[in-house]
Amino acid sequence: MISQDQKTVAAIAVWDLPLRLFHWLLAVTVITGISAALLGNLDLHVLCGQIALALLLFRIVWGFVGPEHARFRSFVRGPRAIVAYVRSMLRPPHHFHAGHNPLGALVVILMLALLLAQAVSGLFANNDIATEGPLARFISKATSDAITGLHDRNGWLIIGLIALHVGAVFGYLLRFRDNLIRPMVTGTKTLPAGESATAISGHRLGLALAVLALCSLAAWLVFAAPRWIAPLPY
Ligand code: HEM
Ligand code: HEM
Repeated sequence: MISQDQKTVAAIAVWDLPLRLFHWLLAVTVITGISAALLGNLDLHVLCGQIALALLLFRIVWGFVGPEHARFRSFVRGPRAIVAYVRSMLRPPHHFHAGHNPLGALVVILMLALLLAQAVSGLFANNDIATEGPLARFISKATSDAITGLHDRNGWLIIGLIALHVGAVFGYLLRFRDNLIRPMVTGTKTLPAGESATAISGHRLGLALAVLALCSLAAWLVFAAPRWIAPLPY
């Protein structure tokens, strides 16, 4: 943790390129996918859901093998640390973080979990007309309908959480003059001195490509394999 009254030091690299690409691709995919669902273009919606699934699988693996600040163990904190951080927000000086702060980390984990639940529930969902997830054929219509209900409700929860996420990011900018957006674009953060903040030493691009290829293959197989195993009669 770094407080605002400390002297500014040079920018350090915190977010690796794969993580930044993941973030902005996920944002575009999820916004496009939700808009497509709400506008009734379910083919586009399902395609976005499939891409989101590959991206989310990538992020989970990256949370274990990615550079420092991408790793879950570097930012997931218990309730005590979160409460202490929220208390510290109420009185100046503002505390800067190299990676996710404890409260932001909670929202990040919640977003990833809800999005994964959404992509997985979508696999079993149906729209009562011509669209169904690739795994819906393996369960009864009643179960698929129940999962579709969860998928619809969780979709609204996700929309709310995204609004909170974007609102919080702009809140940090306006209230604390803490620009979290620029680092998510450039990868580097300018932090006050006197902090043992770790800069990442590399982007692990080769590893990221290999992980992404495997996760994309998995997401493709989830859609393709049911067509080979149990082709639909129509
Ligand atoms: C559908 C839209 C979006 C989704 C699903 C989303 C999701 C996420 C996720 C999962 C993370 C964690 C990154 C990681 O560690 O993997 C994150 C971080 C972040 N997002 Fe978004 N995001 C969305 C839109 C946006 C937008 C529009 C902005 C900018 C205005 C933004 C700014 C940021 C920033 C600055 C962080 C880093 C926060 C920090 O420093 O702790 N996001 N977002
Ligand atoms: C993270 C990815 C996903 C998000 C954010 C998402 C979100 C949504 C939203 C917001 C709706 C509309 C709810 C409403 O109209 O009330 C919806 C409907 C639907 N989604 Fe997804 N979805 C995702 C992934 C998927 C996937 C992977 C599939 C299928 C393979 C899928 C299949 C469907 C179907 C069939 C509907 C229509 C349900 C109905 O008619 O009630 N979704 N989704």
